[in-house]
Amino acid sequence: MGVAKKPVTAKAHTNIALVKYWGKLDETLIIPQNASLSITLDEFYSTTSVLFDDALDADQVTFDDQRLKAGQVTKISHFMDHVRQMAGIKSYAQIVTQNHVPTAAGLASSASGFAALAGAASTAAGLQLDRRALSRLARLGSGSATRSIFGGFAAWQQGHDDETSYGYPIDETPDWDIAIVAVILTTKKKSISSREGMRLSVNTSPFYPAWVETSRVDFETVQKAITERDFETLGHTAEQNAMRMHALTLSADPSFTYFNADSLKTMQLVRELRLQGLQCYFTMDAGPNVKVICRNSDADQIAKALQAVFGTANVRVTHPGPGITINK
Ligand code: PMV
Repeated sequence: MGVAKKPVTAKAHTNIALVKYWGKLDETLIIPQNASLSITLDEFYSTTSVLFDDALDADQVTFDDQRLKAGQVTKISHFMDHVRQMAGIKSYAQIVTQNHVPTAAGLASSASGFAALAGAASTAAGLQLDRRALSRLARLGSGSATRSIFGGFAAWQQGHDDETSYGYPIDETPDWDIAIVAVILTTKKKSISSREGMRLSVNTSPFYPAWVETSRVDFETVQKAITERDFETLGHTAEQNAMRMHALTLSADPSFTYFNADSLKTMQLVRELRLQGLQCYFTMDAGPNVKVICRNSDADQIAKALQAVFGTANVRVTHPGPGITINK
């Protein structure tokens, strides 16, 4: 195939984990301590185009119309080195990313970003990776990106090395009465990265071994709930799993949290809606924004209740979205 002469563009969506990835076994290869499972979302995505150019003396990255400075591209360049090594090429690339996700505030922009970059960069480099290989490559950029290669419900098998730790689809086009209401409480960058947060949790939380054990059970439970379309079990287990993950941050030394006051307020509101008979459950990633798993038929009602408190623009109804697409 050879290196592409025109930019290659890929589009990948974010995902929200129902069973979280929290903690690495291998920090370089990004091998997780537990398997995880997510829903890819239709409303939030990244598009990334890549063109390798022999005339460049470094990777050039434009992120949401802003040219990044040399010091800001280290993580991306490091990822591109993997692609160059796999393709046996030396040239640097022009990378342009547009993010339709509130960045680094717990809405998994790194998931859609690195999935899209993996797809665009590998294709531009002349590699023809199948989706499993693509998910392994995306994993080297960000763990959660492993699952964003696939649509609908997707999982990341823990594995024990580069070859065995990959993503796979569970149900890419779920025909379910399901929606995710995203409550965007801040778009500010988080102060503790997920990498640092995981490291602290693994190394210092006395509850960490219990997390690994219970998340294995949660994985089986959610997987079964998907097969049986058991919405209540799915939602309840996802909420518990999220709170157990956040308990690791609170119990770390030093203790930290991704909750802010509005996160707690949102969780309380969801509990109240549940008492009123609406099936809805909350989950949070490494940032204060909250996502509410609910019935699609209840989503507008739930969104309205949340919008009354947090404003119309800050509450978005999303649904299971598609896997990666790559345009040559
Ligand atoms: O992909 P990372 O390194 O940003 O880690 C993300 C971890 C969580 O979003 C909190 C959980 C998950 O499984 O996506």
